[in-house]
Amino acid sequence: MDAKRAAAERAVEWLEDGMTVGLGTGSTVYHFIQAVGRKVADGLTIKAVATSVRSEQLARQLGIPMISFSDVEDIDVTIDGADEVDPEWNLIKGGGGALLREKIVADASKRLIVIIDESKLVRHLGQFPLPVEVVPFAFELTQRKLRQLGCELRMRMAADAQPYRTDNGNFTMDCEFGPIEQPGLLADALHRIPGVVEHGLFIGMAAQVIVGRSDGTVDVLDRPRP
Ligand code: A5P
Repeated sequence: MDAKRAAAERAVEWLEDGMTVGLGTGSTVYHFIQAVGRKVADGLTIKAVATSVRSEQLARQLGIPMISFSDVEDIDVTIDGADEVDPEWNLIKGGGGALLREKIVADASKRLIVIIDESKLVRHLGQFPLPVEVVPFAFELTQRKLRQLGCELRMRMAADAQPYRTDNGNFTMDCEFGPIEQPGLLADALHRIPGVVEHGLFIGMAAQVIVGRSDGTVDVLDRPRP
């Protein structure tokens, strides 16, 4: 079985009747949403909120009951993918362009469970370019500030050769910092740039990491001790 699918299918074990569930975004979460759709068809009674238009549409097609954020008090569990996971379980997310909504939903969740294939486990974050969502207004100035933090960046482009727009209408800068030794400090520095809406560093947010391997086996990792 595909490693991403193996991790995704294990994650449905954390769902219980009555839960409000956050649905992440990406190719791993695609398998998770499919598996949730099957569980719902078999009688599981959950409500869900989505981190992207894409995930929301897929969930609706599969008959998963979706609720509006204005009706959400607590999200019991959110299942989402990641681009990189370091030994302290800091994450890079946003390769799929949904990092802002993903972070809002993860922050509102009692538990964030990350589903990945084994290639996403890294010693240091940074081999995957860090996505940073910026407002279109004066984005050239924001790019300059980002470069001053020591990265090379490129603006993410869409298939039509126009800048890629997030679900929130913003641009995404993919920033190559090289190995990120102190992700927490970089996260703080990024937040100090006014044109930055959010960045793809998820520091200390994951409660569990489910790793699928190419032979179809799955490891459920508990939170490392600080
Ligand atoms: C979406 O914006 C991302 O954060 C994804 O969760 C991340 O890119 C992992 O995606 P895949 O599951 O497609 O590898």
